Amino acid sequence: MDITNKYRSLTRGDGRVTGGGFPSDVDAGLSKAQKSISSKYLYDAEGDRLFQRIMELPEYYLTRCEYEILRDNRDKILTAVGDGPINLVELGAGDGKKTFLLLEHFLEKGLQFRYVPIDISEDAICGLVENCCDCYPDMAIEGLVAEYFSGIRWLADQNHKRNLVLFLGSNIGNFARADMDLFLRGLWDALNNGDLVLIGFDLKKDIQRIVDAYDDSQGVTAQFNINLLERINRELGGNFNVDQFDHHCTYNDQLGAIESYLVSREKQEVCIDSIGKTFSFEEKEPLHVEYSHKFSRDDIAGMSERTGFKIIEQFYDSESLFVDSLWQVVK
Ligand SMILES: C[S@@+](CC[C@H](N)C(=O)[O-])C[C@H]1O[C@@H](n2cnc3c(N)ncnc32)[C@H](O)[C@@H]1O
Repeated sequence: MDITNKYRSLTRGDGRVTGGGFPSDVDAGLSKAQKSISSKYLYDAEGDRLFQRIMELPEYYLTRCEYEILRDNRDKILTAVGDGPINLVELGAGDGKKTFLLLEHFLEKGLQFRYVPIDISEDAICGLVENCCDCYPDMAIEGLVAEYFSGIRWLADQNHKRNLVLFLGSNIGNFARADMDLFLRGLWDALNNGDLVLIGFDLKKDIQRIVDAYDDSQGVTAQFNINLLERINRELGGNFNVDQFDHHCTYNDQLGAIESYLVSREKQEVCIDSIGKTFSFEEKEPLHVEYSHKFSRDDIAGMSERTGFKIIEQFYDSESLFVDSLWQVVK
């Protein structure tokens, strides 16, 4: 099926998202005293494929918990939405596998909606739109290749449409703590009074259980993070020797977050052609690639209050490892 009219890019005319920001962000990140590159760059076609494998891992409980939550509570979510028509907007949709539970249910129950998945990865949006068109050829869909903040700007232009925004998979945990409120406040600004937001939060729990989810025994998460260096080699003409970097993750108790690093095994220099620079790594020097924050119930309540949302309902999995929290915009 030709899906070219079912999605578009809000980033650049030619539809590729990586052209402007990636080289300059890599340059800035590798030039810092404490090297870091945003986790949003983990998701190219290969990163998407590896993340799909992560979601299947026995240690990665997050996806299974949220799948159970959505399967068991889709009717309650529909009841909270009420009558359509609505925009069903999903930020950082990925492969949308769990969302299919809602799409199918909403279609069955005759809710009128347009599904708007938004993701920085063009490959993710293409794959998702294609799957949706195969499964639900009559469903209205408009995929957007965009960063969260461009997605939010798009939302702000949707005057007088009612919205249900999905932000699943504990994507919110990938922001630095200070940026979570900024993001949520930006989302609140873009939405209308009464709009709903369903946010997935991974809850604080036994630390070993968390660490295992980000340091799996098959090494898939390690490959996923190493792919960032391979991506720099592929897209920016870098010469990272990926065998000279180790994946390392640690739970930071004070932050309440897993921090993921790529650690240089030895002192080495890396040249990146399209940036025109060489970067030095010391032996054991870490490159920070991801935060995965974990949340208490108080964290969630505080965040919703500070950013103008009212908590309508909290949906937990059977082990209470994860929560999908349904918030309403109050203006
Ligand atoms: C951890 S995956 C989760 C995917 C999906 N929400 C789920 O629960 O299965 C994060 C997704 O968010 C996207 N993403 C990460 N940072 C982003 C950003 N700044 N703007 C838009 N999408 C982003 C990635 O491309 C990826 O598909």
